[in-house]
Amino acid sequence: MTAPRKLFIKTYGCQMNVYDSERMGEALGASGYVPTDRADDADMILLNTCHIREKAAEKVYSELGRLKPLKQLNPDLKIGIAGCVAQAEGAEIMRRAPVVDLVVGPQTYHRLPEMERAMRDGARPVDTEFPTEDKFEHLPPARSVGPRASRGVSAFLTVQEGCDKFCAFCVVPYTRGAEVSRPAERILGEARDLVSRGVREITLLGQNVNGYHGVGLDGSDWSLARLVLALAEIEDLWRIRYTTSHPNDMTDDLIAAHGETEKLMPYLHLPVQSGSDKILKAMNRKHTAAQYLRLLERLRTVRPDLAVSGDFIVGFPGEDEADFEATMELVRKVGYHSAFSFKYSARPGTPAAERPVLPDSILDERLYRLQALITEQQRAAQEAMVGREVNVLFEKAGRLPGQMVGKSEYLHAVHASVEGVCAGEMRRVRITGSETNSLSGILV
Ligand code: SAH
Ligand code: SF4
Ligand code: F3S
Repeated sequence: MTAPRKLFIKTYGCQMNVYDSERMGEALGASGYVPTDRADDADMILLNTCHIREKAAEKVYSELGRLKPLKQLNPDLKIGIAGCVAQAEGAEIMRRAPVVDLVVGPQTYHRLPEMERAMRDGARPVDTEFPTEDKFEHLPPARSVGPRASRGVSAFLTVQEGCDKFCAFCVVPYTRGAEVSRPAERILGEARDLVSRGVREITLLGQNVNGYHGVGLDGSDWSLARLVLALAEIEDLWRIRYTTSHPNDMTDDLIAAHGETEKLMPYLHLPVQSGSDKILKAMNRKHTAAQYLRLLERLRTVRPDLAVSGDFIVGFPGEDEADFEATMELVRKVGYHSAFSFKYSARPGTPAAERPVLPDSILDERLYRLQALITEQQRAAQEAMVGREVNVLFEKAGRLPGQMVGKSEYLHAVHASVEGVCAGEMRRVRITGSETNSLSGILV
C-alpha cells in the first residue's frame, strides 16, 4: 500500500471558515488524505480564504508566492483555493496565479473528493456554484470519518449560513449566498456526537445566526431561541454560545432565552458598525443607534451581567467628525467588554464601493482614537473581575508547570494553578489578577 497523501489547510477569516476547514479535511479524509500541520510536508495545500477587506484578500496572493517554490521540491504537490476569495474571483484566480490547481467556493466543498480526482488526472477544476442541494447533507457524517477522534472541549457548529441583509459595504451576501438554515434534527445530531467525544461547549455559527429559522423536530419553523432550548437539554453539554448576530434579528424569545437557561452564556457579540444614524442609514443597517442601545437595555434586564462585544467600521464614505464622535459616544454608553474595529475598505461589487472614499490619514486617526477607547474599556471590564468568582471550563495546559488555561462564562481567558484538574473540567475560580489579554485566578 502506498503512503497516504498529506493535506495542509490554512484558514483565514471568520469562525465559519474554521468550521468549514474541518469539514473539508473530513471530506478529503474520506479520499485517503491525512492532515499535516506543515506546508512543506504536504501533497495538497488548501487555502481557505477571506474576502471581507482588501488586505484579507491580498494575503492569498502573497501566500501563493511563498508556496510556489514548494512545487519544485514536490512535483506531486497540488494547491487549492477555497472560501470567499474563491467564490468572489473564481477562475480569475487561475489566470492570476498559475500555481493554483483547484478553486472551490464555500457552498460546493462537498464536491471536493470528485474535484480532487479530476485534479490528479490533470484538470484544473473550478466550482463556485450556489447549488440547490445542501452541502451538509452530502458531507460524510462526522461519525464515519476515521477514529472517533477527540474534538477538544469547545467546538463550533454551523447552524445558518449566508446573508440577505446587504449592508452597503459587505461582500458576504455575494460570497456566501442567501440565508439558509439547517434542520434542527441535523444540528442536534451533530451536537450529540460532539458531546459524546468530549465537547462541553458549543458555539453556534451563522453569518446572521440569530436569523436562524430551520425546520424543527415537530416540523414547524424553529427560531434560534427554540433551538438553543432544545440543545440545552443535552445533559453533558454545559455551555452554549452563538455568533454573529444582527440587531434586527434579536427577537423577543431570544432575549428571553438569556434569562431562561443558565447554559446560554452571558456573552453576546452584537456588531453595530457606527453610532451615527446618518451613517447607519447609508450602510443600509436598517436600525438606529437608539434602537441598538434599547436592545442592550432589554438584554441586560434579563441578564444584568451580560458581556457585550461589537464590530465597528471607521471612515465609511460620508462619515464626518460629528458622525465619528457619535460612534465614540455610543461606545462610551455601552461599555464594551471587547470590540473589533476596522478601517473601511471598499469592496468590488458592493454599493458603497461607488462612493468617494475619505483620506487614509483620517481613517488612521479615527481608528486610533476608537481603539484607544475600546482598549480602555476592555481593561476596565477585566479589572472589574478581580475579586469575583467565575466558572472556568479548562481547555489546555498553561505556560507554567501545573497551570491550566480555560474560559470564563464571559469568554475571558483565565489561567490558574490547578494541580490535578484536566481539560474538560469546569471549576469555580476566584480572579486574582488581570493581564493584557487574560485573567489569573485560584481555585475556590
Ligand atoms: N454578519 C456580521 C459581520 C460579518 S463581517 C454582522 O452583520 O455584523 C465581520 C465584520 O467585518 C463586520 O462586522 C464589519 O465590522 C467588518 N467589515 C465588513 N465589511 C467591511 C468592509 N468593507 N470594510 C471594513 N470592515 C468591514
Ligand atoms: Fe455583511 Fe451586513 Fe450581512 Fe453582516 S448583516 S454579513 S455585515 S451584509
Ligand atoms: Fe471572510 Fe467569508 Fe468569513 S469574507 S469573514 S471568510 S464569510
